[in-house]
Amino acid sequence: MNTWITATFSPTGSTRAVAQAIAATREQEHIDLLKPTAPRTISSTTPLLAVVPVYGGRVPAIAIERLAALQGQGGPAIAVVVYGNRAYEDALLELKNALTRSGFRVVAAAAFIAEHSIARSIATGRPHSQDKQTAADFAAAVDTKLALPQAQQSAISVPGNEEMKPLPQMPATPVVTDACGGCGRCARECPTGAIPADNPRTTDASRCILCMRCVSVCPRQARILPPPLLAGMTARLQACAAEPRLPEIFV
Ligand SMILES: Cc1cc2nc3c(=O)[nH]c(=O)nc-3n(C[C@H](O)[C@H](O)[C@H](O)COP(=O)(O)O)c2cc1C
Ligand code: SF4
Ligand code: SF4
Repeated sequence: MNTWITATFSPTGSTRAVAQAIAATREQEHIDLLKPTAPRTISSTTPLLAVVPVYGGRVPAIAIERLAALQGQGGPAIAVVVYGNRAYEDALLELKNALTRSGFRVVAAAAFIAEHSIARSIATGRPHSQDKQTAADFAAAVDTKLALPQAQQSAISVPGNEEMKPLPQMPATPVVTDACGGCGRCARECPTGAIPADNPRTTDASRCILCMRCVSVCPRQARILPPPLLAGMTARLQACAAEPRLPEIFV
């Protein structure tokens, strides 16, 4: 069994949970793309498992940017997107293309489903045990492929349009309630630096990607989405994303 490096961008933890279900005991090192990534070359014998969430059918731009600090030397990569049961649209192709541009050979790909980090009533509790079993089966299939001579490792193709849909515009940022104690944890953990350390009750809308990390890490539940926005998004998703989808794998 190969040992892998995993790289994840996981503001509320479900992308990381999918990565762990896939890599399991194979993981030798984790690179956290929530923080700036130091430039690094990955040896051609170490598989890279890159796992990112889907935002508006695309990969968050900052995740692509930080992933680009990792350069391959023709070694294998596994591209995985995690989405909240609506659709992943161009995200898997975008991730595969980004890894290819960085010098990796994308030998396998997958799209997994997780609880929607904005509308928690969509895909609640996923990845569940069946998803995790699919993740383990996917990893075993990747191991089998990597054991073949390189010339026999077939190329894969994934869904998506080369002309990517536009990056999503965020309709709002989280707001802060009177429960805030000013501890600054949200500012320290925001992946885009959208919360000023000296004034964590505010948010720079031009930097916020609505990733929900500040909402999930605040110990006082003092960061919330504006309730009418959350209600509207939940209703729209209930109409188009209520039927459970299955993971898709490409090996
Ligand atoms: C800003 C934003 C946009 C999202 N867009 C989509 C989407 O286009 N399709 C979808 O199915 N899920 C979408 N989701 C849900 C996330 O892809 C999903 O919940 C993912 O598991 C979150 O990963 P995390 O727990 O690692 O933060 C979106 C979530 C956020 C925060
Ligand atoms: S983490 Fe919560 S309590 Fe702490 S500063 Fe941020 S909003 Fe306030
Ligand atoms: S301020 Fe925006 S980008 Fe920063 S953690 Fe909160 S939702 Fe994410």
